[in-house]
Amino acid sequence: MTDSRSLKLTNDSDTLCELPVLSGTTGPDVVDVQSLYSKTGMFTYDPGFTSTASCRSSITYIDGEAGVLLYRGYPIEQLAEQCTFVEVCYLLLYSELPNNAELKEFANNITMHTMVHDQVNNFFRGFRRDAHPMAIMVGVVGALSAFYHDAMDIHSKEDRRICAIRLVAKVPTIVAMCHKYSTGSPFMYPQNKLGYVENFMRMMQATPCDDYEANPVLVKALDRILILHADHEQNASTSTVRLAGSSGANPFACITAGIACLWGAAHGGANEAVLNMLLEIDNVSRIGLYIDKAKDKNDPFRLMGFGHRVYKNHDPRAKLMRETCHEVLNELGLRDDKMFKLALELERIALEDEYFIAKKLYPNVDFYSGIVLHALGIPSKMFTAIFAMGRTIGWVSHWDEMIADPDQKIGRPRQLYTGQTRRDVPPNRG
Ligand code: SDX
Repeated sequence: MTDSRSLKLTNDSDTLCELPVLSGTTGPDVVDVQSLYSKTGMFTYDPGFTSTASCRSSITYIDGEAGVLLYRGYPIEQLAEQCTFVEVCYLLLYSELPNNAELKEFANNITMHTMVHDQVNNFFRGFRRDAHPMAIMVGVVGALSAFYHDAMDIHSKEDRRICAIRLVAKVPTIVAMCHKYSTGSPFMYPQNKLGYVENFMRMMQATPCDDYEANPVLVKALDRILILHADHEQNASTSTVRLAGSSGANPFACITAGIACLWGAAHGGANEAVLNMLLEIDNVSRIGLYIDKAKDKNDPFRLMGFGHRVYKNHDPRAKLMRETCHEVLNELGLRDDKMFKLALELERIALEDEYFIAKKLYPNVDFYSGIVLHALGIPSKMFTAIFAMGRTIGWVSHWDEMIADPDQKIGRPRQLYTGQTRRDVPPNRG
């Protein structure tokens, strides 16, 4: 989108340059600084990209002040209530919600790609049984690059679509394999007669000796968790996928870069960190101690599951996740779950505390997801892998959009250099 408006950059005496101002369909305008260096010899400086738009995108829109999240224009609340995760995958990838025939074909296409090449099993044998699932995910998803040379022409729209399907279909299988490997149980193969989430839950819980039929309430809860995690604009891991993809790296390698970035505790690792924090706090009487630690500038402790770079109001996903928490705990007869009650009290106290109010620190999507996943019987080490399972569709949709963008070029930021200026190597360095 372009606009006739511009922004003049001036110093005390004259105009250094005039930069175009661009508008999207909604949200903040942008100042197009692509010509800034050639016109002024200066770079912009924005560590953490707090005020930087890295691309054009039509996939997800966030209004952090209003607590709004839209996937292709649809509010997350409506998608979470009225759609399935597979429908949302279609929406994110193809821009529109599917009709029944389109959904049936898309879901069947995914089902037909849920198995991994049998030699993928061998990669697991190299890991210790107690390896973190995200370490295994980085290894195994990256290794998929070695199996699909037949369809990795990134400039072919058809190849990009089949790569997207393969990734959305195989990541749950690999996540379940990570869990089975850590428990010393044999891998369970996907069943084509099952839906996406049922299939995953069976691969996680069934054994060759004992099948598993998922509780529909729990299936719906996990389906909603995947919807809430499916995409989130230009977050750290999605930006990582885009940057990796801008060099022409294959999609399996790019998604692997996203998985690696998501693992960080400040990002997707927060759900596991929330549960560990609640276990450490242990009881309501100790909440004050941890709130004080979170406020202490000299203490690196942060209240995990609170705060967000964009949401300076409630994260709409946190509210939906809290509702899901209630549903799952009620279904499992855990309404008096100690962890959940501790979380509710921690949320109440934090939201009344001046520090959190002043810094606009609200619960984010990760605050309640760990409790739900814990109640579903998923080990905390697996939480971020579940996040990756939901986010794969977002990553691959952004990757596809970037490759198709005519303005796309390799990402190569500059810097503010603060090191030594030129100097000679001293002759006698004895
Ligand atoms: C996700 O980007 C996305 O969209 C991410 C995500 C997605 O879907 O992809 O939404 C998923 O990553 C959610 C966030 C999960 N992370 C956590 O819950 C970890 C705890 N949160 C913080 O680490 C922090 O809030 C961040 C990383 C989420 C955001 O950090 P910012 O935007 O860089 O903000 P900041 O670190 O500059 O903090 C601003 C102030 C600081 O104090 P001052 O230096 O101004 O005095 O708020 C304080 C921070 O110390 N602060 C916190 C805090 N978060 C920020 N203080 C205590 N506890 C916290 N959780």
